[in-house]
Amino acid sequence: MLTLSHVSKTFNPGTVNAKTALSDLSLHVNKGDFITIIGANGAGKSTFFNAVAGSFMTDSGNIILDGKDITLMPEHKRAKSIGRLFQDPMRGSAPGMSIEENMSLAAGHGSWLSSISRKDKALFRERLALLGMGLEDRMKQPVGLLSGGQRQALTLMMATFNPPKLLLLDEHTAALDPGTAEKVLELTKKIVDENNLTCLMITHNMQSALDLGNRTFMMNNGNIVYDVEGDERKKLHVSDLLQKFKESVGKELDNDRMLLSE
Ligand SMILES: Nc1ncnc2c1ncn2[C@@H]1O[C@H](COP(=O)(O)OP(=O)(O)O)[C@@H](O)[C@H]1O
Ligand SMILES: [Mg+2]
Repeated sequence: MLTLSHVSKTFNPGTVNAKTALSDLSLHVNKGDFITIIGANGAGKSTFFNAVAGSFMTDSGNIILDGKDITLMPEHKRAKSIGRLFQDPMRGSAPGMSIEENMSLAAGHGSWLSSISRKDKALFRERLALLGMGLEDRMKQPVGLLSGGQRQALTLMMATFNPPKLLLLDEHTAALDPGTAEKVLELTKKIVDENNLTCLMITHNMQSALDLGNRTFMMNNGNIVYDVEGDERKKLHVSDLLQKFKESVGKELDNDRMLLSE
């Protein structure tokens, strides 16, 4: 489904600020995989997603998505097959537009300039009800009125309205309070499972990294230092992940945010 071969990316090359964020990264993701990704700040996790989404061109290597070489494909073209969520709930939906207008854009059924058919409205209502947040009764309200959690759930719904080939979640619950984060994670699991999506999820929460998905990558210095699935993964506890980190990286995981998350 997704293959990276020897992908490297150095920011500000040839300057004192040169930073190699991806270092000869190779990996293969199978169709239907739900992979959680952990690693300290600066490990290259977001850069990996940016490389796949086409936010910049990589310095070397190839990226194949669903059998197609997308290495040189511009970001807007890749966006047709890749759904993305970020940490910031303000990204991913338009605050001044109503919920149904945002949904209509996500569905590819035209913008706020065109009227939304009754059939579409019924479909949007149905989908919104699945979120369990009462948004189906607020379809005419501007998205800007929603809470962060409601907005992130809506963005998740929009990003998967037409199931993408690949769903990239970059710490999409990190800005939410723990209860809301839990709810959005449950929705994530449900949506990924029901649509049999191929999904990569970066998380700072080591427990979520083990609870969700079927495989986990640990990243450090722009590469994967630990890749675990199957029975070995089922047996893992957070303490094992911390130990693995210490073994692979040679130091304790010093990211308080990661350690403190339940
Ligand atoms: N656009 C950029 N310009 C310069 N440096 C960058 C840029 N994006 C990321 N980096 C650097 O690359 C490294 C990896 O960053 P990132 O992928 O965001 O890490 P993570 O998501 O794992 O915390 C960091 O040292 C970061 O400062
Ligand atoms: Mg990041």
